[in-house]
Amino acid sequence: MTFWRWLFMVGALAGSAASGLAADAGPGLATAWPTDRLLGGNAFLPPGLIRLQADSVNSPVSLWLDKGAAIWSDASGGSSCKSCHGPLSTMAKAATRFPRLGPDGQTLINLDDQILACRKRTGQTSQLEDDDVLALSAVLHQAAKGELINTQPPKDHEAAWQEHLGRGAQLFATRIGRINLACMHCHEQNIGKQMRSDVISPANPTGFPIYRMSWQRLGSIDRRLRACFSGVQAVMPPPGDPALRDLELYLKVRANGMPLDGPSIRR
Ligand code: HEC
Ligand code: HEC
Repeated sequence: MTFWRWLFMVGALAGSAASGLAADAGPGLATAWPTDRLLGGNAFLPPGLIRLQADSVNSPVSLWLDKGAAIWSDASGGSSCKSCHGPLSTMAKAATRFPRLGPDGQTLINLDDQILACRKRTGQTSQLEDDDVLALSAVLHQAAKGELINTQPPKDHEAAWQEHLGRGAQLFATRIGRINLACMHCHEQNIGKQMRSDVISPANPTGFPIYRMSWQRLGSIDRRLRACFSGVQAVMPPPGDPALRDLELYLKVRANGMPLDGPSIRR
């Protein structure tokens, strides 16, 4: 699609109900997509992808889970994740608590940042979005399946945490990019509308990490958020940017109490 056609579609979306974006899937398709703010991304997937996601043999996510389980007990660098933490099943709550403040009581870290810090403890180096970090994120989220998101302010540094949350909330409502839309224009005001080949969800962060068909690999919430910046033609923050962590905190607090259901497949 050309930029101008894209701009037209999004302009219509930002405008009124008289937009070219139908609430249903388009001519010939009777099913309307849901518009409920409390749904996870799976509710906006076509049946084929839901089936693939449930198919543990053929789902592309399976390979990542195998890899993550292998790294969890790999002690070739000295010690393994398992030698400090025990079996993955003991980590069920870990993914529910991020992002949270790091050891300095100021910086917000997400699960991937924690994995990076702990990789060093096993004598290995990694960087955000590399295969090893994504595979470990996948098994840690798998271990947390069905656990409820529970992102709470820490008692000792509550003010710093609230500042991050406030910045995230503000960014969520701030128009950005050449397209000049805020997150909320899509993910609150146009839930269930079709946009290009996608259907806009409420952006509840329950399903990460995600295997996006268009990426042909697993990706983190960090990468997905950067893709949304690019979608509105805004300057993309670099991986790990503090603004992405603030946004993630806001999304997690907004989704507190929802069950984690990742890793998952997306269009
Ligand atoms: C030498 C011991 C050690 C090793 C090895 C280790 N960790 Fe950790 N891990 C810790 C400590 C200590 C913490 C508490 C937070 C901190 O100090 O970073 C922690 C915290 C965590 C948490 C957050 C737990 C929670 O419930 O909030 C996760 C997730 C985690 N580690 C993952 C890993 C992964 C993945 C590996 C392997 C790459 C690993 N750890 C290897 C010591 C270790
Ligand atoms: C022009 C509309 C638009 C804007 C503006 C936008 N997004 Fe998105 N976003 C999408 C579409 C389309 C998808 C893919 C379908 C879906 O999951 O909602 C998506 C996906 C997501 C997802 C993944 C949901 C999942 O379950 O896989 C998150 C999280 C998200 N967006 C957050 C944000 C944030 C935060 C902002 C603001 C920085 C933002 N988006 C701005 C359209 C938009």
